[in-house]
Amino acid sequence: MRYPLFRLLVFVVIAAVPMYWLYEAWTFALGPDPGKTLVDRLGLGTLILLFITLAMTPLQKLTGWSGWVITRRQLGLWSFAFVVLHLSAYCVFVLGLDWAQLGVELRKRPYIIVGALGFLGLLALAVTSNRYSQRRLGRRWKKLHRAVYGILALGLLHMLWIVRADLKEWSLYALIGAALMLLRVPAVAKLLPRIRTKTANPVINPQ
Ligand code: HEM
Repeated sequence: MRYPLFRLLVFVVIAAVPMYWLYEAWTFALGPDPGKTLVDRLGLGTLILLFITLAMTPLQKLTGWSGWVITRRQLGLWSFAFVVLHLSAYCVFVLGLDWAQLGVELRKRPYIIVGALGFLGLLALAVTSNRYSQRRLGRRWKKLHRAVYGILALGLLHMLWIVRADLKEWSLYALIGAALMLLRVPAVAKLLPRIRTKTANPVINPQ
């Protein structure tokens, strides 16, 4: 296994985040509506982890260090773990496990349908993230995993629907998402290794 310490560091740092939130909940430090705070934080955590996952390939191209891509799978799975917790927190704290309420909720908060589509997308990517699926699906695996950009768009739409009145924060997230999508465009992606060689060999490649 390559870069075991870096992988472990990523694991410990990310795992510490929900642990700390749990500690805050335990010490009544999550404000007047701790359940809702947890739902929001976990939703935002899912989105941020998706961003970090998608930043790994451009970072590798830019720096030439393969450790970035090696943690990509772990980061994607963390994003899925956060969305599972987000959905579970919603079911417990917002829905109160009252399934009869679900119909009313869907009419009151249609953005949940968009979130649910994102959840199903992340579920499909998580269950096929192993080597066996990679081998079985062959070329289709890459196509399937490109759906992560659609999931990102669904996550942003879901958030936009929620924060309609306050677009400032959302715009920042949308900008990051758009930049990550732009870095996927082959013409742009090709520039990244060139930037690396230019900065590494400024004499050979002046300008
Ligand atoms: C079945 C799946 C999902 C359900 C039921 C769900 C439900 C919710 C609910 C109830 C909220 C809080 C709304 C409010 O503040 O009034 C929320 C917020 C949020 N969710 Fe989800 N969600 C789901 C999936 C997702 C997915 C897949 C993502 C990201 C890819 C996501 C990202 C977010 C974000 C960013 C917020 C806003 C947090 C904030 O305002 O700080 N959610 N979601």
